[in-house]
Amino acid sequence: MINASRSPLLGLFRSQQATSRREQLCATLRLAIANGSLRLNEKLPSSRQLAADLALSRVTVEAAYARLESEGYLRRQTGRGTFVAITLPPARAAAAIRNTGTLPLSARGEKISLAGGCQDPPLPVAFAAGSPDLRTFPHDQWRKLSTQVMRSTPSGWQGYGDPQGLLALREALARHLNQSRGLRCAPQHIVILTSSQQALQMLSLLLLDPDDRVWLEDPGYPGARQAFYCAGARLEGLRLDDEGAQILAARSAPRLVYLTPSHQYPTGVALTLTRRLAWLDYARLNHCWLIEDDYDSEFWFDEMPMPAMQGLDRSERVITLGTFSKSLFPSLRLAWMVVPDALVEPLCRLRSVLDGHSAQLMQAVTAEFINRGYYSAHLRYMRQLYASRQRHLCRLLTEKCGDLLAIDPHHGGLQLSVTLKFNADDRQLSQRAAAAGLSLIPLSPLALEHENRRQGFILGYAALTPAEIGVAVSLLATLLESARSA
Ligand SMILES: Cc1ncc(COP(=O)(O)O)c(C=O)c1O
Repeated sequence: MINASRSPLLGLFRSQQATSRREQLCATLRLAIANGSLRLNEKLPSSRQLAADLALSRVTVEAAYARLESEGYLRRQTGRGTFVAITLPPARAAAAIRNTGTLPLSARGEKISLAGGCQDPPLPVAFAAGSPDLRTFPHDQWRKLSTQVMRSTPSGWQGYGDPQGLLALREALARHLNQSRGLRCAPQHIVILTSSQQALQMLSLLLLDPDDRVWLEDPGYPGARQAFYCAGARLEGLRLDDEGAQILAARSAPRLVYLTPSHQYPTGVALTLTRRLAWLDYARLNHCWLIEDDYDSEFWFDEMPMPAMQGLDRSERVITLGTFSKSLFPSLRLAWMVVPDALVEPLCRLRSVLDGHSAQLMQAVTAEFINRGYYSAHLRYMRQLYASRQRHLCRLLTEKCGDLLAIDPHHGGLQLSVTLKFNADDRQLSQRAAAAGLSLIPLSPLALEHENRRQGFILGYAALTPAEIGVAVSLLATLLESARSA
């Protein structure tokens, strides 16, 4: 039996921070078991003894023992006492595992870990890509609506929900998408998700086997590339021209094609109608899936974006994705997928074994936001705001960096891409920019094939005020000037 007053337990107890004395004692005992000071089957002091040693009430010690018994750390035997019930790997062994540099992961886990993950900027730093302006969001409207929804459905949003998504949101979205994006969908074709990234992961799980071939625009969206790569697919890049992604007619057909037709990520080119029809034909004849990522088409400025490919599809091969991360706010964690009939049930089953469904309350608030016309009004307002910011950015870039970079096609969106006019390594420049407080996503790592590599950057402007854009362009000009003359 340990004697608490002479054991490290007292020191350990004093060093633990917790919300109550009971929690403090629980933390102490857990740690003592984890670091080996208390060993398997070792008898603990009686609650009376330990209470005296640590200046606690006996009730507190009893409560802590009971809690740790329920967690499996301790075993209590009537008439015999309280014993340590488990043994944990010693800290030194855990450290050794960490230090070998090889994590005990599966081959798939290693692949996912080494692929590096996707990082999104938490704050609207200049020129972080894909950030909407959160400062202009109608916060009051959203807050009031949330309160109203909570009041009107006091318990409706608290239980488990439908893996396909809240019906009210699917209905609102179907109306909105059919009207504004030329989709042809009913609420039963819509699946609500946490993010487009989740959609890409789920589609990879459902549609791809290891070594299946996937075609993607090159350069292209790294989130999609990572999702397919981590699923073990073989990726092949699609060259881009003025009409968008070209079909690799000479190669045998892939299982899946990923496109960003209305605003190619990152170059901004829009897939022409002729090319859209060619791709739809290709998908039909070759029985491959076609993912249309419609991530920011709400923000075309001077004209309407071309209707979604899904609306032209007659052979049920197109899956269209969209997200509220750009059109409302990223932390909302709501996105959607419009899928052919055959995929609805498998996707719902998959969602039920992943995380069940998206948050009910936020789905209900978003549905109301759309139904009351606030969403369309918000989009109209943001479209004008972003258009003026884009014009401002282009004017300044032409003025201050016109001989250093060329601006790629830009119909709208939250960002545009620029190509360097002089020889430089965009990754090195991006690192230098980061040190100066500028976020520049380099274009070259976004390409799969060497011949599709361009040197340049993505510049996000939507979240920046004109003054912030001015400061950022001056910094960029200085950086590029010094790189060119180095
Ligand atoms: C092409 C593309 N698709 C999807 C997304 C992300 O959407 P979500 O936050 O819903 O994953 C982005 C974000 O920048 C994007 O650029």
